Amino acid sequence: MAGSFVLLEGGPVRDHVYADLASRIQRLRSAGRTPTLATLVVGDDPASLSYVRGKVSAAARLGIDSRQEHLPADAGEPAVSERLDAWNRDPGVHGILVQLPLPPGYDTAHIQQAVMPSKDVDGFHPMNMGALALKGFEPLFVSCTPAGVMRMLHFYDIVIAGARAVVLGRSNIVGMPMSLLLTRADATVTVAHSRTRDLPAVCREADILVAAIGRPAFVSAGMIKPGAVVVDVGINRVGDRLVGDVAFSEVREIASAVTPVPKGVGPLTVAMLMHNVVVAAERTG
Ligand SMILES: NC(=O)c1ccc[n+]([C@@H]2O[C@H](COP(=O)([O-])OP(=O)(O)OC[C@H]3O[C@@H](n4cnc5c(N)ncnc54)[C@H](OP(=O)(O)O)[C@@H]3O)[C@@H](O)[C@H]2O)c1
Repeated sequence: MAGSFVLLEGGPVRDHVYADLASRIQRLRSAGRTPTLATLVVGDDPASLSYVRGKVSAAARLGIDSRQEHLPADAGEPAVSERLDAWNRDPGVHGILVQLPLPPGYDTAHIQQAVMPSKDVDGFHPMNMGALALKGFEPLFVSCTPAGVMRMLHFYDIVIAGARAVVLGRSNIVGMPMSLLLTRADATVTVAHSRTRDLPAVCREADILVAAIGRPAFVSAGMIKPGAVVVDVGINRVGDRLVGDVAFSEVREIASAVTPVPKGVGPLTVAMLMHNVVVAAERTG
């Protein structure tokens, strides 16, 4: 595959998403329906605070309004539910985001169900996840990171239908919805995880390999089918550097296309969140 390598950068895809959203946001604002995202942070996890700041400032740049609530770690579930109920009832709030992880002691699944499905812009509500899994149903929202990966694959004209895809990781927020989206797009999908036997051989079957395990540089050249497309969802802090789940420099020698970390999938997660907020606001018309 020498000479045909493609670096799957997220920036151009994000710009494409934002260019489409700009006119839609303009229309909504002119109609007095400014798209509004409400964010809830519980506790003082620095990474969570920084992620929410990033989302709020991306929203502001696009003309999406934000409401923010920051509760102390010991606020308790009734206080969280009360805040979410108020936003569920507020017609001026179109999307609600509860930043994860919640501090120890909170029932994450229970809190995710407290966001009404029509404002669940993270796509984590079991009704939205269930609809994604079921033929004949359409989720109101799809989880942002896997939705961003699909945008990436379409943007770079990667053929999905009929491809063998391997999704490494089966989490609720990335691996599982990723495998469902690829299945919906007619790939033949294998989900691999920490109990998978002979993982390298499974990965070498993949025309499209999506790595979402949270293990720095875990996916080596020996796990790649020549010419495969490799999507690295991992974000791991190693010293002062961000490293993906893929050993980029060796894998790029074998693959036909790889996403970098940073500047690959990362920017698309926020872009798809903004997309979901705009869709939520449009539905209120
Ligand atoms: N780009 C973005 O915007 C974005 C968004 C979300 C997450 N991420 C990153 O994506 C990565 C995954 O996130 P997550 O939330 O899905 O993580 P997670 O909830 O910790 O799930 C990790 C998954 O990887 C599997 N796994 C772990 N070690 C493995 C190994 N050695 N071999 C095979 N499978 C293994 C686990 O298997 P079991 O199920 O068997 O335990 C699990 O299914 C992290 O680096 C995270 O920071 C990035």
